[in-house]
Amino acid sequence: MLNDPVELIEPPQDCVMVGTGKGGVGKSTIAAHLAGHSAAQGRRTLLVCVTSQDDDDLGLKRFGHGIHPDGPTVVDGQGLYRAIYERSPLLPIREVRPNLDVVPGGKAVGEIIQLLMHRMMTDGMGVTLSLARSLAPIASWYDQIVIDSAPENDSLEQLAAGAARHLIVPTRSDDSSIKGMERISLNFKAVRRQVNPALRVAGAFLYASNPTATSMHAEVKQDIRAVLGDSTPILNTVVGYREKPARNARKKGLLFGEYAELLPTSARSYDVAAGRAKVADVVPEAIIGLADDMRALSEEIFESCRKAV
Ligand SMILES: Nc1ncnc2c1ncn2[C@@H]1O[C@H](COP(=O)(O)OP(=O)(O)OP(=O)(O)O)[C@@H](O)[C@H]1O
Ligand SMILES: [Mg+2]
Repeated sequence: MLNDPVELIEPPQDCVMVGTGKGGVGKSTIAAHLAGHSAAQGRRTLLVCVTSQDDDDLGLKRFGHGIHPDGPTVVDGQGLYRAIYERSPLLPIREVRPNLDVVPGGKAVGEIIQLLMHRMMTDGMGVTLSLARSLAPIASWYDQIVIDSAPENDSLEQLAAGAARHLIVPTRSDDSSIKGMERISLNFKAVRRQVNPALRVAGAFLYASNPTATSMHAEVKQDIRAVLGDSTPILNTVVGYREKPARNARKKGLLFGEYAELLPTSARSYDVAAGRAKVADVVPEAIIGLADDMRALSEEIFESCRKAV
């Protein structure tokens, strides 16, 4: 079938996608923290969640943060689905934090896959620019845009990549995470060749690992380069593996830095033992290191994006 040539869309200057082909690596955690970091620096920031998971790291659904747009609900990925379906501008939830707007992910994002497949017959590879088209009318409102992406789905990964200027790739150290990078690598190349020549890999990095396992880190760097190419910038910051504070922070809808601020007034284990507090009220001390690591990673990622022109 013949299609008209694709009309390209220049991605916004500061628009970074977090992507890797494997699930559960830390993409959504990193995307939310990148967006939060940028907003906290006074930059008008938009987080777009192209993922059917409903992680709610920002407590948007559970605690009702933010100002919702008029009209039908945009939560659970419904706003994103509608914008793609109607070919209309994205309608973010405003001020989820100061300077931070969000287009939430959720179940309805899964339905975008069929929609894209159907439209592929008439629009060809142009469907990959569906998100870019819905983002373009509002992109100038923002100094920074962060796109979270879905794992193990080529159409959604390409949809996100079609709208972004920079791609950053987190990985864990296991073989299946490294293999997962092959998927993002193929999608990156296809999108760049066909619809978004401005797309660049701004960095790849090991995420959630023991910071002292330096020889293992060196091996992973080699693995990353073998999959993504020798010129791939490898970031130095390794955020430590700290399951409890990461899990607790998400449950409370708080970013790591926000959760760390609760530590001085937190209940202690002796309060739990005395029956004055519940385990869930104790803020783990390891949140401090986790928040510091994530801040350092966010800074390094944005620095690497600035260099990747
Ligand atoms: N530094 C960390 N140490 C330990 N666990 C972490 C850390 N950061 C995030 N996690 C946890 O790892 C799990 C996966 O993280 P996340 O949801 O961000 O990954 P993902 O790549 O977005 O997953 P999916 O592919 O399902 O969208 C979550 O339970 C999260 O709380
Ligand atoms: Mg995710």
